[in-house]
Amino acid sequence: MKLAIFDSKSYDKLFFKKYEDKYDITYFDTALNNKTVNLAEGFEAICVFVNDVINKEVIDKLVEEQVKIILLRCAGFNNVDVDYCYKKIHVARVPSYSPTSIAEYTFSLLLSLSRKVIRGSNRTKDFNFSLDNLVGFDLANKTLGVIGTGQIGLKVIDIAKGFGMNICYYDVVKKDIDGAKQVTMDELYNISDIITLHAPLTNDNYHLINKESISKMKQGVIIINTSRGGLINTNDLIEALKDKYVSGAALDVYEEESDLFFSDLSSTIIEDDTIARLLTFPNVIVTSHQAFLTDNALTNIASETIHNLEQYISGEYIDNEICYHCKNDMKACYKKRKERCF
Ligand code: NAI
Repeated sequence: MKLAIFDSKSYDKLFFKKYEDKYDITYFDTALNNKTVNLAEGFEAICVFVNDVINKEVIDKLVEEQVKIILLRCAGFNNVDVDYCYKKIHVARVPSYSPTSIAEYTFSLLLSLSRKVIRGSNRTKDFNFSLDNLVGFDLANKTLGVIGTGQIGLKVIDIAKGFGMNICYYDVVKKDIDGAKQVTMDELYNISDIITLHAPLTNDNYHLINKESISKMKQGVIIINTSRGGLINTNDLIEALKDKYVSGAALDVYEEESDLFFSDLSSTIIEDDTIARLLTFPNVIVTSHQAFLTDNALTNIASETIHNLEQYISGEYIDNEICYHCKNDMKACYKKRKERCF
């Protein structure tokens, strides 16, 4: 079985290495898109990450090249036209590799903002030991609003309890969570001091955080996004930061990240004025889609990706196959019967 891993970095190679005895693995540094799809020729399986673009054109080309399965080494799949893949090419993902990694990172961002850790550390490296303008605030008794309470959102809630925060949450699915209050989206906007996003990006929630939703939030709100960049209208966020209506933002994801993140562009002229403006705010932290990057998560990502490949090869049901088309018609769902979707 020949497997091509696209958009691969040094850490991917490190964690997939142990499977090289069993599988013929080729690593491509380049991301998969309509310009690079020819590289998939001769591979029955390809593995992609968050910023590879798998649209109709790419899917048609993959099918033409006899690729049979797309293995996402991530949980989110907003970058794949899954409806179009149905009956053409299998798609499997890694739905859970370490929710703890992302939840803990969410708090590392929040604490860096609330206690100005990065600014303080940058100063001391310059032998500036002044504490001026480094006054922070306690998380205890602040209200945290969690949007999306799946695996990661739930872990975030667990951690928030340890900090003594008041917790409210909104999810499209109703659920009872101990020690946290389920509220409407508007209520969450209204009462939260800090809002953290843990919902997947879908057609329904694109630019969920925009001028209008920000206007419903408390003045001074802090926004954390470790989910997907498209959940926030970045220009609206910038305006709210300039107005000092939003008092801080920590973003591990950015809606135009595919042209920037995961690469060293330190010697390049950046053409994206939006990210350039964002990076000028002292109360904004941007990291390069790093929340997943722990040895626990990378070990699980590699082993689960290979597990998905093995299930494909065996011809059996693939546990982590994407739900393609019957989202509203559960009676027609093959997955429920533990059968392959096609
Ligand atoms: P999950 O599938 O376990 O949970 C998602 C939750 O969001 C579900 O409870 C769902 O009902 C809810 N939801 C869906 N649409 C919603 C909406 N419009 N409003 C409110 N809630 C909604 O997913 P998990 O594992 O918790 O991951 C969440 C997201 O985190 C992923 O979709 C991915 O985009 C992102 N992620 C980011 C990583 C990073 O490195 N920054 C790493 C892993 C995931």
